[in-house]
Amino acid sequence: MSKQSESRAKGLIWQSMTLHQLQVFEATARHCNFTRAAEELFLTQPTVSMQVKQLSKSVGMPLFEKVGKRLYMTDAGKAVYETSQAVFDRLAQLEAAIISLQGMEAGKLRLGATTTAQYIVPKLLAPFCQTYPGVEISLEIDKHKNVVERLNNNQDDLYILSQLPDRDDIQARSFLCNPLVVVAPAAHPFTQQETISLETLVKKPLILRERGSATREAVETLLAERGLVPQVRMELDNNEAIKQSIAEGLGLSVLSLHSLSRISSASELVILNVEGFPIHRQWYAVFLKSKALPVAAQTFLEYLLQESQQYCQIYPHPTANLMESLAG
Ligand code: PGA
Repeated sequence: MSKQSESRAKGLIWQSMTLHQLQVFEATARHCNFTRAAEELFLTQPTVSMQVKQLSKSVGMPLFEKVGKRLYMTDAGKAVYETSQAVFDRLAQLEAAIISLQGMEAGKLRLGATTTAQYIVPKLLAPFCQTYPGVEISLEIDKHKNVVERLNNNQDDLYILSQLPDRDDIQARSFLCNPLVVVAPAAHPFTQQETISLETLVKKPLILRERGSATREAVETLLAERGLVPQVRMELDNNEAIKQSIAEGLGLSVLSLHSLSRISSASELVILNVEGFPIHRQWYAVFLKSKALPVAAQTFLEYLLQESQQYCQIYPHPTANLMESLAG
């Protein structure tokens, strides 16, 4: 008994067929034409006929019949065609899964982030890196205008910022709140007041972030809406230096709540309850619409959107609970 009749006798048709035969048959069945299948697969027409013949032998039944000049699939042919499509669909899925796994094992993630994002990005990256230890990460933290410049030059995959550039070639996904609060030294007399009006606040010298910073712009916009102008005692482009300066009594300031995440109860800094504050802002992950995000960046984006949900549930009670959560 030949190998093929032996397999058929045992009911194991697939043992004597090959993937190559199935591929040739699938193309022939789809075109219902040997010549077109041969062209598609860069094979000769006799090779295609031979492969289909071999497959028919394995199945033990003809897969095509010729009526006049036309080729028709037999019922057995239709059954094999349906199976071949399912097999190749699954193989395509397997290939996509393997590519994606390779991407996460050796992929690169390039991030650009604005100054204040330094308080959230490493925190969010830590569990991501644990899950995908093979992903190589570069994180550029810079001033808002420089991050926008990097976006213009397509230097990174994703950009983390809270002030969106006004343009329509980008996509922005908000993933976390970014409340801005007024900060004072613990011994400041304002800490004794339940609420402080904006008019009272602007009478005091302020330490503000540099011009162009998103935080600075948000403060100036809020004050301008009330026709108020801040008394700027000092401009700094560094949140940590601002915190030191507040503690030294140089003035009050407005900072992202995230920059205060490490404040403990024994801290020298406190958050004041000022009218109009916190200023509600959002963190966005931004990317160019025209960019095909690499697997690692796509996975990080999905992770950001998912992970942020736990923080956002806390958001309705910003100061106490969010800080506790961030300090953890
Ligand atoms: P910053 O804020 O520029 O004030 O650091 C970051 C941002 O909002 O993008």
